[in-house]
Amino acid sequence: MYTDEDVAALYEVLNPWGPGDAFSLDRVMAATSVLDVGCGPGGLLRRARDEGHTGRLCGLDPDPAALARARARTDVEWVGGRAEDLTATGEFELAVMTGNAFQELRGDHDLAASLAAIRRALVSGGRFAFETRNPGAREWESWRPENAMDVVDAAGRELRVWHDVEAVANGLVTLTETTGTRDGTPLRVDRATLRFTDAATLDALLAAAGFEVEERYGWWDRRPLAPDSRLIITVARAVDG
Ligand SMILES: C[S@@+](CC[C@H](N)C(=O)[O-])C[C@H]1O[C@@H](n2cnc3c(N)ncnc32)[C@H](O)[C@@H]1O
Repeated sequence: MYTDEDVAALYEVLNPWGPGDAFSLDRVMAATSVLDVGCGPGGLLRRARDEGHTGRLCGLDPDPAALARARARTDVEWVGGRAEDLTATGEFELAVMTGNAFQELRGDHDLAASLAAIRRALVSGGRFAFETRNPGAREWESWRPENAMDVVDAAGRELRVWHDVEAVANGLVTLTETTGTRDGTPLRVDRATLRFTDAATLDALLAAAGFEVEERYGWWDRRPLAPDSRLIITVARAVDG
């Protein structure tokens, strides 16, 4: 038995602080009010507070187990919910979506409504920074059991975590993540569907929601986007009209 709370704790073991977090942290530290959409267990905003951020930090996530971990810190505002349900209006200088959380916005309606809600939450001229895996790199082809990761969770359990892709269709990749023992016995299987969006589609969606793309990179070192870049990293500015 591996609970939702165990999975939320394991997430932080599987996703340690990386170059994407450092990229986002610089922007967070430079903004006085920050909304982290799909904040998960809240590592980015917790770090920002630790590094001396004195302004408003607000994390939003629909996953109760992830948010329960975030809420261990009471010096950051944590809100349960999805991006499209955001009610804030003109409150934030910066919104971020990190850890490929953007790919959780799957349907056309969900994505458009989420972008519109994020735009509404920002002040005019505010920024929205996020990354999404580039469909051109076909990263899902490496999500196979033979690429399993061996990890030790916070409780000291020796685990193996592996992925299987069930379907690739219409820009959506459905995969399972199995958490098991080291001999390959599954303890639990989680299924997810991620949307892969190319840069041109992304730009059209952003423009329709009131954003102008200001920066675009293919990796965290700010190299330009190329057809086979692993990521599409975007910083967009909230514009009026
Ligand atoms: C891969 S995690 C990324 C967590 C964190 N941002 C990070 O960098 O580690 C994706 C997060 O997006 C959240 N999520 C899923 N659907 C969402 C939605 N519609 N709106 C906002 N967040 C969502 C999930 O609950 C999950 O915590």
